[in-house]
Amino acid sequence: MSYQQIYRQSIDQPEEFWRDKAQALPWYKFPQTILGRDENGIDRWFMDGEMNTAYMALDHHVENGRAEQPALIYDSPVADTKKRFTYRELRDEVARTAGMIAAQGVGKGDRVIIYMPMIPEAAIAMLACARIGAIHSVVFGGFAANELAVRIDDAEPKLVLSASCGIEVGRVIAYKPLLDNAIELAQFKPETCIILQRPQAEATMNEGRDKDWHDTIAESEPADCVPVNATDPLYILYTSGTTGKPKGVVRDNGGHAVVMNYSMDAMYGINPGEVFWAASDVGWVVGHSYIVYAPLLYGCTTILYEGKPVMTPDAGAFWRVASEHGAKAIFAAPTAFRAIKKVDPDGELVRQYDIDCIRTIFMAGERLDPPTYDWVTEKTGKPVIDHWWQTETGCVIAGNLQGIEQMPVKPGSATMPAPGFDICILGQDGAGLAPNEHGYITVKLPMPPGCLPTIWGNHSRFTEGYLERFPGYYVSGDGGYMDDDGYVFVMGRMDDVINVAGHRLSTGEMEEIIGRHPAVAECAVFGIPDDLKGEIPLGLALLKDGEDIDADTLSDELKQRVRREIGPIACYDRTLMVKRLPKTRSGKILRRILRQIAADQQYIMPSTIDDPASLDEIREILKKAGIVAG
Ligand code: COA
Ligand code: AMP
Repeated sequence: MSYQQIYRQSIDQPEEFWRDKAQALPWYKFPQTILGRDENGIDRWFMDGEMNTAYMALDHHVENGRAEQPALIYDSPVADTKKRFTYRELRDEVARTAGMIAAQGVGKGDRVIIYMPMIPEAAIAMLACARIGAIHSVVFGGFAANELAVRIDDAEPKLVLSASCGIEVGRVIAYKPLLDNAIELAQFKPETCIILQRPQAEATMNEGRDKDWHDTIAESEPADCVPVNATDPLYILYTSGTTGKPKGVVRDNGGHAVVMNYSMDAMYGINPGEVFWAASDVGWVVGHSYIVYAPLLYGCTTILYEGKPVMTPDAGAFWRVASEHGAKAIFAAPTAFRAIKKVDPDGELVRQYDIDCIRTIFMAGERLDPPTYDWVTEKTGKPVIDHWWQTETGCVIAGNLQGIEQMPVKPGSATMPAPGFDICILGQDGAGLAPNEHGYITVKLPMPPGCLPTIWGNHSRFTEGYLERFPGYYVSGDGGYMDDDGYVFVMGRMDDVINVAGHRLSTGEMEEIIGRHPAVAECAVFGIPDDLKGEIPLGLALLKDGEDIDADTLSDELKQRVRREIGPIACYDRTLMVKRLPKTRSGKILRRILRQIAADQQYIMPSTIDDPASLDEIREILKKAGIVAG
């Protein structure tokens, strides 16, 4: 069937379409109700189905001929370690870890925070939670203690699983002091922490609360899979919104498993038994979906890579890993390839490896800029496929669906809507826009399986943030357009969220931190273009009357504050002092225009601006700082 036929069926007969996809998985009880509504009036998939995600991803394969197939390959240039787990070995490790978790009094519906680097135990811990119906929440290792504390307070975990350290190129980052500090900062106190001691750093244990992973697991019995309802949460993953408080995106078990399994074929054109490599981190949604769940549900071998695209040890790392393990697909953020291109512009290191195994290179996480697309295509000779998705959906919203029909690529476009996503471009007033007109990218309800049904502990934040602006539609937060051929162009966020090196961050949160500095009266943070990271944040600050702190000192203090409170991944390096900020007459800062000025883009002077001269003043400051051309 053509893409158009499959896509139309998914929109016109969604229940038949997804019932069929659900049949590919081993349910304990196959759902009778394919699409229903929950008590909040939200569309829910497979409501009366019973299953277990870890069973589907591991035990089922062990019982059906994949027991000796590699399930997970751990490749760590930074720890100088490589390790393979067959499906049987991974199932057994997961069962023992599940037993260890259950022995701490954790059961169905309880939350477990996983704050770990890219080591196999991180993926094992996720699957172990799934095995006993506990809800995991993985926190990315690059976040500071304060961010971890906020997540602890929101998720209220009974247990935290962590490791003594992560390794960033040549540096060992001790995790335990960050965890201790986070628990001190948090109102909610987890009863137990289980810490995996890595040889690179020894963590000091907190008597009565902390346990050693190896000792505890040695005493544990394996635990069986616990049947859960399809709509029971599998995990909570926090993502940046427009305010300081991150949003706990909830993912259910059933819809997620169905869409993950389907996407391996439809989106990635992969066959069971093949090697799939998502070069991301388990702390991000790409890591959840395509390092852990989708490849295993589909019977593939997944690679868990603890390293960087460059410097571990060089810019040939991606090609080395792919060729050594026979990866059929690489999936990474464009920023990773920009980093490789910067170090190896002529692609010499690409030629040093036999990358014949690679069929396709997939990119997501931020807009794939045409120069990066061109470079990767030319140097590797492989098809490069952009696709657009979000933490909220957990899977592709628009892409060039390799397992359905390979469409001509239009650089700059994510290609076509994925099955189940009825993408509509709406204007300010909610009216549908014509091809090539820019507007809000929305999805007409119902969303397909796997998309978030709520925000953890705050359902109104879900409805207000995503559903209320245009009733009947999910608002993605991204802006863009569809062209005459129906290709989707995602041009950037419509809100105060920025994307730094493929990491989603809130400028609102940075403003809150800067605004707390005693010398600062007011501030604005927005994204400015960056050759490597796509975007980086820039702050403008207005001093309180009577303050005369030196500009460099202030900039440095603010940098340290953001680093301390959000973490180094915020890449917040610079604050410029200004005498006034451009505002509307009602006092709203015109951040969008600031962004446009910094990117040297045309902008329309809003009729509501209070003081048009303030824009010229800002332009001068940005010029002096070397951010815009003279
Ligand atoms: N634990 C602790 N610290 C971390 C970390 C982690 N897991 N990840 C990043 N950091 C730190 C880095 O060490 C760096 O610290 P520094 O300011 O003290 O040097 C800071 O956070 C910024 O990191 P990053 O943005 O990763 O910059 P970089 O210069 O180290 O690397 C890239 C640049 C492009 C190689 C890197 O950003 C990258 O690989 N990005 C891909 C992201 C990705 O895969 N996203 C998933 C979406 S698909
Ligand atoms: P995250 O939830 O961290 O995965 O970030 C999701 C956001 O990243 C989206 O809302 C987009 O702004 C951006 N994004 C992801 N993939 C793409 C893409 N292929 N093209 C453009 N933007 C993207």
